[in-house]
Amino acid sequence: MAADIAMIGLGVMGRNLALNLAQRGRAVAVFDRDAARLQALAGASGIVACAAPAAVIDALAPPRAVMLMVPAGAAVDEAIAALEPLLGPGDILIDGGNSHFRDTIRRARGLAPHGVAYLGLGISGGEAGARLGPSIMAGGPAEAWQRVAGDFIAIAARHDGEPCCAWFGGDGAGHFVKMIHNGIEYAEMQAIAEVYVVLRDLLGQPAAAAAEVFAGWNGGELASYLIEITADILGRRDGADGPPLIDRIADRARQKGTGQWASIAALELGAAAPTLAEAVAARHVSAASGERDNIAHRLGSPQTRYAGGSGLVGDLAEALLGARIAIYAQGFRVLAAARQEFAWPELALSEVARVWQGGCIIRARLLDDIRAGLAAQPAATDLLALPEIAAKLRRVEPGSRRALAAAIGHGAAVPALASALAWTDGMRTARSGANLIQAQRDYFGAHGVERLDRPGDHHIDWSAKS
Ligand code: 6PG
Repeated sequence: MAADIAMIGLGVMGRNLALNLAQRGRAVAVFDRDAARLQALAGASGIVACAAPAAVIDALAPPRAVMLMVPAGAAVDEAIAALEPLLGPGDILIDGGNSHFRDTIRRARGLAPHGVAYLGLGISGGEAGARLGPSIMAGGPAEAWQRVAGDFIAIAARHDGEPCCAWFGGDGAGHFVKMIHNGIEYAEMQAIAEVYVVLRDLLGQPAAAAAEVFAGWNGGELASYLIEITADILGRRDGADGPPLIDRIADRARQKGTGQWASIAALELGAAAPTLAEAVAARHVSAASGERDNIAHRLGSPQTRYAGGSGLVGDLAEALLGARIAIYAQGFRVLAAARQEFAWPELALSEVARVWQGGCIIRARLLDDIRAGLAAQPAATDLLALPEIAAKLRRVEPGSRRALAAAIGHGAAVPALASALAWTDGMRTARSGANLIQAQRDYFGAHGVERLDRPGDHHIDWSAKS
């Protein structure tokens, strides 16, 4: 049987994407260096198991489409090196992993002289998404994408009947959008974890009670996949009569680096995304559990019980919604800056909102409003300026401030929630304090200032006392 597409790398994501493609009627040639993984798929309907990369290539009729689902980094370069001699002009190589967008740009440039088109696909949704419908963010040459788009549209998640799959521009655009997705994912997870700590430690709620709070929120405007799984996680017991499972999980968060990449990209582009960076830093703080124990022992924990009543729960919901708006707004500003910097004019923000509505980890009801707002104002880059979003922010503002005051006042560490509010406050401040920073720079370094009363750049003689 001639195959339509190849899948190289049959880990959790590769295996499930191959099965998803096969279920949609594609014949998929598959290969993995691990014989057991290959064997596990052999015989499945629509799957052509191949014993070597060369056999994969032989199973496809040119021009071929070969997809890599191998760990980001050196493994992708190794796979490309092995495949390059086997591929020819017109063939398409697709990287569906969480590769850094600059690696994707480099690889695309390296393959272009051989006539091989390189597509970078950001794929979100984990195991279930890969099998049943992920969110797909594509980048690479438009003609190459057109040739394979049908396959990916077929397997993508659906939201209101529309496939959560789109092309965002050349070379690294798809992987850039996925990287920002992950930055938002980190920030959302951190904000939710902070709310959980307030419920647990300041309000003394057991996990089951916190589960009910999150489940209730998931029925309203806070609805999102991450809130839904949080409710499910907090409701689980360790065995039928055991303690809450969450209480038996170590509080040390790991990371593979995509949140850090998103934060670095934001800094490089000059598009502040402090809440994304706070979430990365919070994972680092969490990982330093030995030091935390030691310092907590010497310094003592500042946390005290909150006795101000149950209104705090409603205020936390508002703080979480306000933070979510800020987090998305930061991510979209980075995307807008990247569109400019990397010349990806096709990177439409309303399309980003659309493909994130289903299948991906950060899918949330808020995206309906973001998408509608961006559809009405396609040139907008600031979510905070969209009327619906601005109205929501105004509505949750008093509750957010009360929640933050209570959390900080009672010693809970809430860096993501606090940074989201601080960023929002900064973005809505018409006259900031940066005039003083400019004056200080000019005072010690003669860096010059812009004056409000006359044009040009001016150095002030600070030694002259007036
Ligand atoms: C997704 C996830 C996925 C993966 C993260 C986890 O969209 O499906 O983002 O890609 O779970 O990379 O990242 P960390 O290991 O860094 O938390």
